[in-house]
Amino acid sequence: MLWSKNLETGIDMIDEQHKELFRQIDILLDIKNENRIEATLDFLGKYIVKHFTDEQNMHAQAKYPKAAAHKEYHDNYVQTFRKLKEKYIKEGPTVTNNMEVNKTVVGWLKDHILVHDKEFAQFYKSLP
Ligand SMILES: [Fe+2]
Repeated sequence: MLWSKNLETGIDMIDEQHKELFRQIDILLDIKNENRIEATLDFLGKYIVKHFTDEQNMHAQAKYPKAAAHKEYHDNYVQTFRKLKEKYIKEGPTVTNNMEVNKTVVGWLKDHILVHDKEFAQFYKSLP
């Protein structure tokens, strides 16, 4: 499992969705049957957008001062994911593509959670 306890923000909804994201990435990296790649990437792509939307709604509701910057990180990530998805569908689970998923998707997500989602969680928990 790619998710680990240090990624916990303490906000249940966000943590549950992060776990699901990593579970889907685990599935993707484990695929032996190339026919399933597109469906898994589709699901993952949609789930990423849903998760970001939920987070952004939470930011708006909490009047989070860094909401706009945070949304920009999300938007850029969606673009990166789309490009990777196209490449992955075209070329399949090559060693290079799996490495790229690990670096781009997993690495980015972990860094984003550790820095930006945790920063929001701290703000959120300090609200009266
Ligand atoms: Fe986020």
